[in-house]
Amino acid sequence: MKKLVFLTGAGISAESGITTFRDSGGLWEQYPVEAVASIQGYYRDPELVINFYNERRRQLSTVQPNDAHRLVATLEKFYDCCVVTQNVDNLHERAGSHRIIHLHGELTKATSTENPNDPSQVVMLAEDQDIRIGDKANDGSQLRPFIVWFGEAVPMIEPAAEAVSEADIVVVIGTSLNVYPAAGLLGYARRDAVVYLIDPSPNNVPGYLPVHIIAKKATEGMQELYEELTHKG
Ligand code: OAD
Repeated sequence: MKKLVFLTGAGISAESGITTFRDSGGLWEQYPVEAVASIQGYYRDPELVINFYNERRRQLSTVQPNDAHRLVATLEKFYDCCVVTQNVDNLHERAGSHRIIHLHGELTKATSTENPNDPSQVVMLAEDQDIRIGDKANDGSQLRPFIVWFGEAVPMIEPAAEAVSEADIVVVIGTSLNVYPAAGLLGYARRDAVVYLIDPSPNNVPGYLPVHIIAKKATEGMQELYEELTHKG
């Protein structure tokens, strides 16, 4: 089976009703990113940050995977697939994808403030489960969202780079390719890899490799690509 890697961002979940970050009306227009999504912001006001992610977690039970998530999962019948996502939602899991690398963490997990990347500190949270000030991780420090904030290392970047470097086909969906190191992952693609990008407003498209641009929303663009990939597959 050929290897197919998806690199997904907020745009794939937009049609499920989850607001993107940098589009007009996006989350970073409503909340100062450095206050709610940086390690400095967390130390300044942990309650504000914990509540911001409590809200995002509660939203999960009100949204459903869309056809783009579902088609990504269905392609596992034809390809050896890996999804590398910057999203912290669980819509790829709920659509049925099996191999998912979350670069920026997961809303349905919590970890320790002192040792956030120690796997023994990570616990699962239900979609309706809030983290509260005073909740403790196994090591006794404050429980925090399992989210990679600005100013923190991105531990999953290495397995993600490895997956991209082995891919025959890379499909980028709904990311503004603004945030590094995720935005640099295409640099690991093989020279002969076939690269597609689905985004209604493609931007920051790398110039160092040929990219087939499908300037459509995720659901429509994935439908088109699904047909192409299953005919060729
Ligand atoms: P952005 O909000 O930066 O970009 C969203 C992209 O989705 C844009 O290129 C839009 O054109 C596109 N888009 C919008 N609607 C779409 C649709 N229906 N179908 C397909 N594409 C659509 O989101 P990301 O690139 O995911 O990190 O942002 C990367 C990271 O920045 C996030 O993981 C988050 C944020 O700060 C952290 O919080 C650490």
